[in-house]
Amino acid sequence: MKKVSLKNYNSFSVDAKAKNLIHVSSEREIINFIEKNKKNELLILGGGTNILFTSDIECPILKIEIKGIEIINEDDNEVLVSVGAGESWDELVWWCIENNFGGIENLVSIPGNVGSAPIQNIGAYGKEIKDVIENCKGVFVNNGSIKIFSKDECKFSYRSSIFKEELKNKFIITNITLRLTKKNHNINIEYASLNNYLIENGISKPSIKNIAESVHLIRKSKLPNYREFGNAGSFFKNPIISKKQFKQIKSLFPEIVSFKNKNSDYKISAAWLIENCGFKNIKEKNVTVYKDQALVIINTGNAKGKDIYNFSQKIKKTVKEKFDILLQEEVNIL
Ligand code: EPU
Repeated sequence: MKKVSLKNYNSFSVDAKAKNLIHVSSEREIINFIEKNKKNELLILGGGTNILFTSDIECPILKIEIKGIEIINEDDNEVLVSVGAGESWDELVWWCIENNFGGIENLVSIPGNVGSAPIQNIGAYGKEIKDVIENCKGVFVNNGSIKIFSKDECKFSYRSSIFKEELKNKFIITNITLRLTKKNHNINIEYASLNNYLIENGISKPSIKNIAESVHLIRKSKLPNYREFGNAGSFFKNPIISKKQFKQIKSLFPEIVSFKNKNSDYKISAAWLIENCGFKNIKEKNVTVYKDQALVIINTGNAKGKDIYNFSQKIKKTVKEKFDILLQEEVNIL
């Protein structure tokens, strides 16, 4: 079998090779494949926007391309929308705006596919997908059986879920159902940069369309387009530290950017930590961090997956030495 390049299948634009890339566009095709593929080892690929290939992939890759957006139930106030895992997340958001369905407007312009969104509980500008998920349906890799996970069973947390932990590579999401509002939308403008943007633009009572348009423009001004500079969004999670550790760090670095969590822990801006280790001025083997968002590692040329990985580990080591905080990767590293 001829190897294929994965360059166009990952937003880092890394030229790793795949031995066996299989496109699947229905649940039935996935089950058929699982029944034949007795070895169980396989890689599930969605939009490829949160993955870093550090070497060629020997096992079969299932590229999930299940389409379809369908209203499965509604009343005067709410609507249940079922979406195929292979739909584009951003196109789904705009479809919701056109139909005046509220709930995911703050999550506009996040690259990637619908099926990947719950895996890392995508979040931005004050909302997370867990706020609107009704359930996630899919197939177990070991035996092809189907299960629908209720929202509680998904065990959502900050940038994580059961699908990123216990069920990593063991369950293929084929379909998700969202519960969205048709009126009295729950407008969320708590996030400081969104709130400031709306004030500056004289928007006092934003509609869901205003929110989506504003977030789209804010993101565009701060985040690199992966078609220009290969990247996978935030490379690390924002670390969460105890009040005790926070007090120590704050006394040494009073200007540190932090957010107090409800349970008295502190979330620290990883972007600030990375920027303050000087990484905006460091470039190695076509890898650096983005000038406007240090949490985003970018491929400025034909960087190899290994080079990007090595750069990320250098960041991790430097941040640990300077601030005694261990960053945790948000991107899936293979
Ligand atoms: N900051 C810096 N240096 C920078 C960039 C930011 O010091 O280079 C500081 C600024 O003070 C800024 C603060 O960090 O006010 C927060 O920055 P930002 O609003 O960009 O948010 P973030 O915490 O860095 C998170 C998500 C993003 C999401 C934004 C907006 C994570 C890991 N990242 O970034 O998600 O778009 O909030 O809600 O939680 C992603 O997951 O791929 C992603 C892009």
